[in-house]
Amino acid sequence: MKTKISIFPEKTALSHYAADFFVRTARAAIQKYGHFQVALSGGSTPMALYKLLSGVSLPWRKILFYWGDERCVPPTDAESCYNQARSVWLAFKPIPEKNIFRIQGELGPEAAAADYAKRLEAATGGKRRWPAFDLVLLGLGADGHTASLFPGSAETGDAPTVAVTAHYQDRPANRVSLTPAVFNDAHHIVFLAVGAEKAAALRETVCGERNPAQLPAQRICPLNGTLHWLVDEAAASQLPAQVEDVKIQRLPKE
Ligand code: 6PG
Repeated sequence: MKTKISIFPEKTALSHYAADFFVRTARAAIQKYGHFQVALSGGSTPMALYKLLSGVSLPWRKILFYWGDERCVPPTDAESCYNQARSVWLAFKPIPEKNIFRIQGELGPEAAAADYAKRLEAATGGKRRWPAFDLVLLGLGADGHTASLFPGSAETGDAPTVAVTAHYQDRPANRVSLTPAVFNDAHHIVFLAVGAEKAAALRETVCGERNPAQLPAQRICPLNGTLHWLVDEAAASQLPAQVEDVKIQRLPKE
């Protein structure tokens, strides 16, 4: 069963589990490939995880950081996905600048998307159009979006990046996103979803009618990797006890 849902009593236990998974996956990838390639998520949910990771020991020089999406703001902007991770975690670790593959949102959506597509291919030495990420972290919007793939957005085919203008909460509208073609090539995809406001979107994504046009999180189906939802009880509150082809487990409070 490729899809698993782990339900935690609250966000702290979830974040600790996610941090442990990150460390284990990083160590395994470094052992196997000599490096660990991860695509980070924006949003508020992963911030507790990022803060925990600022306190762990890993061979940071062997970790390559990418982003699943980025807002078209300067890298110093509080709304920048890069700046969010950097300000609580990456800035405190001995990570060479060359290991940080920041989406240059300040170029504007179209130019930044084209630039990142080139840099994804260059990062593989031209061998592939994008890295097969060892780990992709994703969030879930209350409207069923993930990364910056929003309801009603066009399918992106085999394009690696897409320029986006979307209005969600009070966040910057102009964005760049990786696409399902890239995400689904990953070895491990981990969604983090917390809070009752995500319950309907989680239920619809995981066990609702197939409707990837309106539920972009349904576009995330790893080709050969694993898909793991880390959710709290509130986000899981509308899930049935069983979901076909999905392993559901409840984890105790730490
Ligand atoms: C972003 C994220 C976005 C986020 C969801 C959930 O750039 O905002 O990529 O997809 O993961 O909107 O956001 P929260 O974690 O803040 O609920």
